[in-house]
Amino acid sequence: MAASLPDQSSTSQPHSSISNPKNEQRTTNNEELAEHVRQGLSRQPKALSSMYFYDEVGSRLFQQIMALPEYYPTRTEFEVLTRHRAAIAQALTPADGQPFHLLELGAGDGLKTKILLRELLAAGTRFAYAPVDISPSALAGLADSLRAELPSLQVEPLTAEYTQALAQLQGQPGRKAVLFLGSNIGNFPPAERQQFLGALAAQLSPDDRLLIGFDLRKDPRQIRAAYDDAQGVTAAFNLNLLTRLNHELGADFDLAAWEHFAEYDPLTGAMRSFLVSRRAQQVHVAALGQRFEFAAWEAIHTENSYKFTLPQIEQLAAAAGLRVQQVFQDEQQWFADVLLAPAE
Ligand SMILES: C[S@@+](CC[C@H](N)C(=O)[O-])C[C@H]1O[C@@H](n2cnc3c(N)ncnc32)[C@H](O)[C@@H]1O
Repeated sequence: MAASLPDQSSTSQPHSSISNPKNEQRTTNNEELAEHVRQGLSRQPKALSSMYFYDEVGSRLFQQIMALPEYYPTRTEFEVLTRHRAAIAQALTPADGQPFHLLELGAGDGLKTKILLRELLAAGTRFAYAPVDISPSALAGLADSLRAELPSLQVEPLTAEYTQALAQLQGQPGRKAVLFLGSNIGNFPPAERQQFLGALAAQLSPDDRLLIGFDLRKDPRQIRAAYDDAQGVTAAFNLNLLTRLNHELGADFDLAAWEHFAEYDPLTGAMRSFLVSRRAQQVHVAALGQRFEFAAWEAIHTENSYKFTLPQIEQLAAAAGLRVQQVFQDEQQWFADVLLAPAE
């Protein structure tokens, strides 16, 4: 589902493998990636999924982005989780103290999650932590750091795509709490977002809980700057997608002929990133045996990072069969971690 193109549902079914991150098994094999590229570069406007940003280099670049002065989402959600850690940990823990599974979708390096993990461990809570990520390198780094920093924590990492993680949830016995932090939910275009949340809600039992991080609407210039930093790290992150296609699919993208462009639409809350062709050019993708034509200044849409309002979140939750239980925010109200439960 998340492998679909930024603005359009894809007919291809991503079927990543579930594996131990230590074996470095690829989660998206080259045929899947090639098929995604064939579809994405054949349509108008051209588009590729942001899910493919996160090869080893991309995951490392994203860690650098999180530390940038312009990139407020990570710092702000860090503040939310730090301020409200006791209340959030309590809300995620079953009232009867039974052990539970804490599953995290798109865990990345788990920097912010560790605030909650520490809080839960300090309270003597019995739980297993199952971080899920499409990036084997991000997951391996997270598992290593948890072994070193929180050795008593039971960790069950899964290298998988979101939809596979949902399939895993189906029929899993016991209580569950699901984390979906970092406003990853903003990567889905609206229709897919609703569909994904509905599919996630359908896997929850009445006592299960869901905590989702939503980046909220704010000064449009501040939002845009977060995706177009002065040092050019976000540009390198976006352009790395083309390097990945060169390496994995034998494409011949000339990186000097492409540039990063990011734009925010305050009417819809859509923050969008593009790769723009600086000149008319053809690109050959050896794995597909195909050439793709680009006009001068033609764009490939590579990422959505939608921004939300609290009433919109209420509506999104209700339409998915969920109810908002608690909203945790930072002092400036830039970000919300929203605790959700299945509607009665
Ligand atoms: C923007 S980062 C956020 C990481 C973390 N949640 C945080 O808040 O710092 C997105 C993470 O989700 C993972 N990811 C993106 N799309 C995914 C998908 N469709 N299935 C599983 N993981 C995905 C990426 O590999 C990356 O580690």
